[in-house]
Amino acid sequence: MSPDTQLKQPYQRLREVIEERKNLRNPLIEILRIAQEIFGYLPIEVQEFIAAEMNIPVSKIYGVVTFYNFFSMKPRGKYTLNICMGTACYVKGAPKLAQMISDVLDTPMGETTEDGRFTLSAVRCVGACSLAPVFVIGEDTFGRVETKDQVEKVLAQYK
Ligand code: FES
Repeated sequence: MSPDTQLKQPYQRLREVIEERKNLRNPLIEILRIAQEIFGYLPIEVQEFIAAEMNIPVSKIYGVVTFYNFFSMKPRGKYTLNICMGTACYVKGAPKLAQMISDVLDTPMGETTEDGRFTLSAVRCVGACSLAPVFVIGEDTFGRVETKDQVEKVLAQYK
């Protein structure tokens, strides 16, 4: 397969997905969800492509993508590191923990580390208040992590 064909492949897949679904009722969210699966995120080029294929304005797609925080316009890291900012965690030092994690990874909240390993985000209560302050990586929950050393040890487990 030539590199040119490889390059076109995700768009061909997306075209088929749109073709199969565009006559369903309200197919846009489902199409965007699959597009995000294919590309990993929804850059403006992908949104423009979907708009052209579905014959709808890009602004409509952009509105949906920016409304749901499930959709991302930036490439996301291999792992999403969610820091709980719920009340219990907040009171027990979540802002300090967020700053510490951000310092260790040299990446501001909401952004992805340069090596593409982590995307940092803040979430509401994850239901582990007794362990506050809490952060979650994938399915794993970490509580009462209070020092830079502890943060580094946890993060080192994720390659
Ligand atoms: S407030 Fe953080 S787990 Fe409940």
